[in-house]
Amino acid sequence: MNETDPLSDLPGDLPDDFVWGVATSSYQIEGAVAEDGRSPSIWDTFAHTPGRVDGGHHGDVACDHYHRWPEDIEIMKRLGVTGYRFSVAWPRVVPGGDGPVNPAGLAFYDRLTDALLEAGITPYPTLYHWDLPQALQDRGGWASRDTAEHFAAYAHHVTAALGDRITDWSTLNEPMCSAWIGHIEGRHAPGVSDLAVAVPASYHLLLAHGLGAQAIRAAASDARVGLVNLVNPVEPATDSDADAAAARRMDGHVNRWWLDPVFGRGFPADMVELYGVDLPEKPGDLDAMAAPLDWLGVNFYNPSVVADDPGGPVPFAAQVGTPGSRRTMLDWEIRAQGLEDTLVRVAQDYAPARVLVTENGSAWADVVGPDGRVDDPERVRYLEEHLAACGRAARRGVPLAGYFAWSLMDNFEWAFGYDARFGLVHVDYATQRRTVKASGHRYADLIREHRTHKVA
Ligand code: FCB
Repeated sequence: MNETDPLSDLPGDLPDDFVWGVATSSYQIEGAVAEDGRSPSIWDTFAHTPGRVDGGHHGDVACDHYHRWPEDIEIMKRLGVTGYRFSVAWPRVVPGGDGPVNPAGLAFYDRLTDALLEAGITPYPTLYHWDLPQALQDRGGWASRDTAEHFAAYAHHVTAALGDRITDWSTLNEPMCSAWIGHIEGRHAPGVSDLAVAVPASYHLLLAHGLGAQAIRAAASDARVGLVNLVNPVEPATDSDADAAAARRMDGHVNRWWLDPVFGRGFPADMVELYGVDLPEKPGDLDAMAAPLDWLGVNFYNPSVVADDPGGPVPFAAQVGTPGSRRTMLDWEIRAQGLEDTLVRVAQDYAPARVLVTENGSAWADVVGPDGRVDDPERVRYLEEHLAACGRAARRGVPLAGYFAWSLMDNFEWAFGYDARFGLVHVDYATQRRTVKASGHRYADLIREHRTHKVA
């Protein structure tokens, strides 16, 4: 690498055992929604409700990963990744939400785990990536305390079965999105727009994390437990006091509400007051939420630039973005410095033992060219810039242990359907053909370089 290359000193900044990963989630890739005893999840219901997802898309087939997983592992092996973050579908393992385990559902993850280990790839499962069994939604979903307890029982079952081979577990993916996008904005399943439901749901998600952490450790004593949060740097659009206050509220809403209780500080008082909804507190809950964390997963996509919005929804702060900034096809602002700032902020404010970037990536409308190749220069640039930001954060003392690109392959991007492609690997949904994009090849080169450097 030459001196003008932003990544020229990256390998030296990252630890030798740095995890080079890719990430996916169950509903976004698996398909096979009615196979081997899987029950419907809230995302099946939501996606099949007209008007909820762009193009009427749904996850019935998705990337057909449930059948094509050997090929997908082969691709990961070729890329040289050392970690794979996937999620376990609760409706496959405990179709009723609570009650008996479905052995056929669990067997899928058992096979996947063995094959990953065989390929030299460390599994990083997430136990909940938004596909709540519909049966539990029918009984109140996350607004009900029972759901947190059922989650812990389910977490125990999975860990008891796979904990002899898997060390790193995360409980939840982005509980902020489950609670706020699913229950305030209504853009995600279960499609509710009611703060009086959203706040208890947020509480029970954090409780589920805590009870889940206990259940994981009870089933596998050497397990390392993490939580995956979306963490956004939030800044005011102008230097007015009103915008500064709006940024503080937005930071409370998306960041502090989801970090303070987990790091033993309880819920931020300013936000409790702003929401004005009683928390369903019981003695011992805060201690459970603050269960020791072996690592914090940080998902980062874009910075938030906000302006005061007194007439808008909670937290009365509108996303306005930076004028003239580069944007992805989803209009998400691109600023890699935001990742460095976020990692440093999290390390300084909360001092997690280890940090993993558990998701980072960009969406583009990629096409396979006439030569059969997928050229995605914007994604290559995004990847390089964000990895360079990781290197800088590590140099500034962040205990950064790994990076997982979102995503291994194009997949069902929630309310945006299939048009927003996030993969390092292109998926042709008509044929299920996979093609490694230029960004995938670039990632493979960077991994190789880092590993070579470490041997040298
Ligand atoms: C995150 C989700 C992930 C994916 C990316 C683009 O919020 O965790 O499933 O959809 O956004």
